Amino acid sequence: MKKRLVTVFGGTGFLGRRVTRHLLAHGFDVRVASRHPARADTLFAPAEVEAVKADIHDEASVAAALEHAHGAVNAVSLYVERGGATFRSVHVEGAARVARNARKGGIERLIHVSGIGSDPASSSDYIRARGEGEIAVREEFADAIIVRPAVMIAPDDAFLTAISNLVRRLPVYPLFGRGKTRLQPVHVEDVAEGIGRLLQAAPIDAGRYEFSGPRTYTYRELVQSVATELGSTVRLVPVPFALWRVASIAGEWLPGTPLTRNQIALMQRDNVAAPDAPGLPELAVERTPVEDVVREMDGARGA
Ligand SMILES: NC(=O)c1ccc[n+]([C@@H]2O[C@H](COP(=O)([O-])OP(=O)(O)OC[C@H]3O[C@@H](n4cnc5c(N)ncnc54)[C@H](OP(=O)(O)O)[C@@H]3O)[C@@H](O)[C@H]2O)c1
Repeated sequence: MKKRLVTVFGGTGFLGRRVTRHLLAHGFDVRVASRHPARADTLFAPAEVEAVKADIHDEASVAAALEHAHGAVNAVSLYVERGGATFRSVHVEGAARVARNARKGGIERLIHVSGIGSDPASSSDYIRARGEGEIAVREEFADAIIVRPAVMIAPDDAFLTAISNLVRRLPVYPLFGRGKTRLQPVHVEDVAEGIGRLLQAAPIDAGRYEFSGPRTYTYRELVQSVATELGSTVRLVPVPFALWRVASIAGEWLPGTPLTRNQIALMQRDNVAAPDAPGLPELAVERTPVEDVVREMDGARGA
């Protein structure tokens, strides 16, 4: 196969580094674009990828990162607004900038990573920006493929790791509300493989994919499954969302914050794929059960 170049914005991130590895495995050349390109040295073998400095707030660096590329993936995140980086500047304006420059640069296929539940009418600044971002990307690049993952998990993730740590350490577990929110956690490697196949496959018949895991849990069921897998006994205690919101406002001031307001907003609504949306099964990606990830996490801890 002729080698083709894909630029991965956010290619050093939790998802982006996996997308990069899966693209390499599919035979693509990869250019990793981020604000701290030196991080690529610790993630990839020497000369395995081209790492360039780019900020999606900056038109010239975005255009340069796309030069001579055939495909592009936008896997840039912003979970907490800081300084000039706002949900709007990254998820709407930055996303549109990538899409505009991709179209001008003659990129054949653009994948914009968003999230399940993105909604331009949401009262949450974060969820609204994600929804507006999808629209802005399509206005600039009509054929862009939107990929909406469910909450992504891996042995080194933030989500499942936090649940596992609490389940191991606490006799009582504070639930988000009554723990009734429905979730479909998806392995980040499966999402990365799905994105790799979307870049390779031709033609693509759907403009929007929702990538979710093999099983739907309520949050309560998920915590219980993790506890069972780890052999822990824990009492699950409902905690009202209003209290979580207060805790998250305080949490956002802490470095490496484990809890943010947008996470609380996301936890208040079901995070499951729409039944009619194409997803990983349509791309023949076998989906990893949550329990396998918990076992892997537990094994790595004991090793
Ligand atoms: N994690 C989840 O469970 C989840 C679920 C659903 C959807 N998503 C979506 O998946 C995407 C990737 O998320 P993630 O969790 O992998 O994010 P992440 O680990 O925080 O990685 C973000 C990446 O973006 C780069 N970046 C940040 N700001 C940038 C900027 N202004 N310009 C250029 N690069 C920038 C970062 O590198 P530098 O800091 O060096 O620039 C890093 O490579 C996001 O759209 C996220 O909303 C995530």
